[in-house]
Formats: sequence, structure tokens, C-alpha cells
Amino acid sequence: MNTAPIDPARIPRHVAVIMDGNGRWAQAKGLPRHKGHEAGAESVRAVMESCRDLGIKYLTLYAFSVENWVRPKDEIKGLMQLLKTYLEERAFELHENKVRLRVMGRMSDLPKAVQIGLNRVIKATADYTESELILALSYGGRAELTDAVREIARKVEKGDLKARKIDEATVASHLYLPDVPDPDLMIRTSGEMRISNFLLWQLSYAEIYVTNTMWPDFRKDHFRAAVEDYSKRNRRFGDISAEEQT
Ligand code: FPP
Repeated sequence: MNTAPIDPARIPRHVAVIMDGNGRWAQAKGLPRHKGHEAGAESVRAVMESCRDLGIKYLTLYAFSVENWVRPKDEIKGLMQLLKTYLEERAFELHENKVRLRVMGRMSDLPKAVQIGLNRVIKATADYTESELILALSYGGRAELTDAVREIARKVEKGDLKARKIDEATVASHLYLPDVPDPDLMIRTSGEMRISNFLLWQLSYAEIYVTNTMWPDFRKDHFRAAVEDYSKRNRRFGDISAEEQT
């Protein structure tokens, strides 16, 4: 394992992950798809530990998209059960590491038992300020923007907001978690080069890292490699590079 230190000034503050490839991982091993999701839960644990070790404050995981509801009922049931078990059996790890759990997405779509489990842990960890684990659940970037537009329109209709005063800050402040800074780095596993309706607004200037590793195989070394790659990038935010300026 590479243990050369990464420049602390170049550690991302917020990493977002599209955890992809669970199904293919299981299929390649002749296992049912839910085994891939179960192994993927171990990767979640490894990545959370890496964030703690590297001092990354925000970790957002795309755990279930608005589009995932069309999957076979059994698979959805298995994923929801996995989430419930995680909340029941692993919440102590959040407490041990003072991690605040948050959710972004249409939480009311989730089964009641999962909502109850989530709300319990969200409430119990609400005062931790060191780091945050954000689960995107029943999440879609277009759904989030649609919800924001609806809320802004409602305020305009009521006369609380003037249409001409709407700017980027107005939109950003109506997203699901407006206080969370935009991701610096977005990792996608399994080699797919797509954003898949994830954080459409927030990823505008994120660095993207795609690895062929399937999510259930993605562990600390892989995460570190992604952060190291990120630490060497030249982020320009529309400007020209520092070299070009000299
Ligand atoms: C994508 O792989 C993965 C998902 C839709 C679910 C991700 C969920 C977990 C890893 C469960 C654990 C989460 C927590 C927070 C405990 P896929 O099924 O689309 O894979 P495929 O593209 O190979 O079919």
C-alpha cells in the first residue's frame, strides 16, 4: 500500500461516490445480486474509515436513485433491508467517529421502517460537527432541481421573492442540503463514464475519477489512489492554469 503522504492542502473537503458494479461483481462470481450489495456495504465501511484517516469532512454516497425503484421488487427489498440492518448494527461506528448522518433525496418514498431507522440515527448524530456521511436515497439530480424550482416558484407566487432577484445563490440555497459545500471529487466505480443524474448542480466543478474496480472490491487503497490522483489535478474553475499565467 502506498503510504507517501498526500499534501494536506490538496485533500478534498467533500468526496461524492457513485457506488457502481455490485450486480456485475456478483454475477461474475455466480452469486445473486444482493451478495454484491452486501459486499458493497463493507466497501462503505472502508471508505468511511479512509475519510476519517485522511481528514475528509464530507462523504456523499449514491445509495439509491429515483430511477432504482424500477428494479425487481426482491432486489429493492434486499437493499432496503441492508440499509435497515446497517442503521441498526453499524450506527455505533458513526458515534465512535463522531460522524453526522444526513440524507438527501425523497426520503418519504422509502419504506416506513427505513425512514424510522434513518430518523433515529440522524437525530442521534445531529450534534456532531467533525464529519458528515450523506446518503443519497431515492435521490435524483433532476428531482432535486425540480423540487427547488417548485419551492422558489411558490415563494414568488406568495410575493416573498421577486423573480428578477433569483440568482445562482437562490437556486443553491433551495437544494436539499444547502449548507454542504460542493463535492471536490466525484468517484465512480465499475468503469462507467456517466454522472447518472447524481448531484447535477453540485458537480459543476468537481474533479471526476473513474476506476474499473467494481464497488464491492473498492477498499482503502483504491480510495487513497483516487485522492492522490485528485491532489495532483490543476483545478481552474474556468480560469486559466497557473502555468499559463506566468
Ligand atoms: C449500484 O450497483 C449500486 C446500488 C444501486 C446500490 C448501492 C448500495 C450499497 C452499496 C448498499 C450499502 C449502502 C449502505 C449505505 C449501507 P448496481 O447494482 O447498479 O451494479 P451493476 O451496474 O453491476 O448492475
